[in-house]
Amino acid sequence: MSFPLLFSPHALGPLESANRFVSQAMEGNDGVEGGRPSPRTLERYRKLARGGWGVVVVEAISVTPGSLARVNGLIMSPAGLDHYKKLVDAYKEIFPQGILLFQITHSGRHSGPFSRRTCLYPDGAGDAHLLSTDEVARIRDDFVRAALLSREAGADGIDFKLCHGYFGAEMLRPANIREDRWGGSFENRTRFIRETMAEIRSRLPAGPFVLGSRISMYEAIRGGCGTAAPDEQVEDLREMKDLVLLLREAGMDYVNVSAGIPAITPEVTRPTRPSRNFYLHHLRYSRLVKELLPDRAVIGSAYTIMKEEAAAQGEESLARGYADFIGFGRQSFADPLFPRKLRSGEPVDYCTACSGCTRLMVNQVHDGCVVYDGYYRDMLRNLGKKGA
Ligand SMILES: Cc1cc2nc3c(=O)[nH]c(=O)nc-3n(C[C@H](O)[C@H](O)[C@H](O)COP(=O)(O)O)c2cc1C
Ligand code: SF4
Repeated sequence: MSFPLLFSPHALGPLESANRFVSQAMEGNDGVEGGRPSPRTLERYRKLARGGWGVVVVEAISVTPGSLARVNGLIMSPAGLDHYKKLVDAYKEIFPQGILLFQITHSGRHSGPFSRRTCLYPDGAGDAHLLSTDEVARIRDDFVRAALLSREAGADGIDFKLCHGYFGAEMLRPANIREDRWGGSFENRTRFIRETMAEIRSRLPAGPFVLGSRISMYEAIRGGCGTAAPDEQVEDLREMKDLVLLLREAGMDYVNVSAGIPAITPEVTRPTRPSRNFYLHHLRYSRLVKELLPDRAVIGSAYTIMKEEAAAQGEESLARGYADFIGFGRQSFADPLFPRKLRSGEPVDYCTACSGCTRLMVNQVHDGCVVYDGYYRDMLRNLGKKGA
């Protein structure tokens, strides 16, 4: 099978991607001191460069040291800039035409105990620190700084993380009933993204730079994104449709469509064998977003669970206009060379959806594919010995 659409070029904002394969952001939790990418981090992105993915989204990079979900997570800082330049160089040396985006984030209430757990509203956040109006404004400035530093490091763009239950998603959801300028009405809940994007756009130096965002269309929690009220849990996408249009107005070149909160509703974000058919909801979400954004790029998520059928489904999604790009998360861990192998007909190492990589991640050790990479297999074995 040749998959002509998957291997065809397509615009991503001001740039053109060589093909429609997107390696989704995947935390490897292997940064070093100060949240800098380590030699292991660089090696992971070298492998993806060899794989020929049209777009690679570098995993969650925290905008401050105090907003980390993983103990070895990446942090964007002026002190780490040279290390991010090395990461870009390592990738571009192998695949100069590849588009490398940095996902910038604040983990909010999902920050780890080694960091600073914060929340925008106290409900369900335990002892997390309730952010003041001014503290939220400072986080806005942190996002702007991280975007500008990403540009300086040589990234082709940023992926503004508004998904998966982290700060950006907490801000948007109806359950955010703060009474200050950051909560309550839809206008207040979207003020953060509007103000941050306006500032980023006004301060970016001239030249092509992709601006995009990843959203969870439906978080599957009470009052979450994709519901109609703070006490509602049934899916209602009216507000998310307005959000998608607002993102376009704010200057986003693409929307990466995801769902769920991995820490609370993981099967929604990444379907596993028993929840395999949830991929159909992802198709529905990306089709809806594409209908709203005919003139912007849309990336679909959660294709990994389809295994050998994933490429054919991706091809069909492109043909039917459900998405412009097909995103793979776990499959990019299982086989970083996936697009190249598909093209050449070499056998692919398909993700078995065993959740081993997730287990490593939640145990706060280096994570990667435990099925096809001995380093991570040993890591999992050691966890087993410790009974974790
Ligand atoms: C180990 C692991 C790390 C992840 N890290 C990130 C991340 O940094 N940012 C993000 O937006 N999603 C992250 N995700 C979610 C994936 O990008 C993707 O949305 C999810 O795995 C579903 O896609 P798939 O079915 O192709 O794997 C992660 C998932 C896993 C399993
Ligand atoms: S560890 Fe399991 S779930 Fe993770 S990428 Fe490998 S095969 Fe897939």
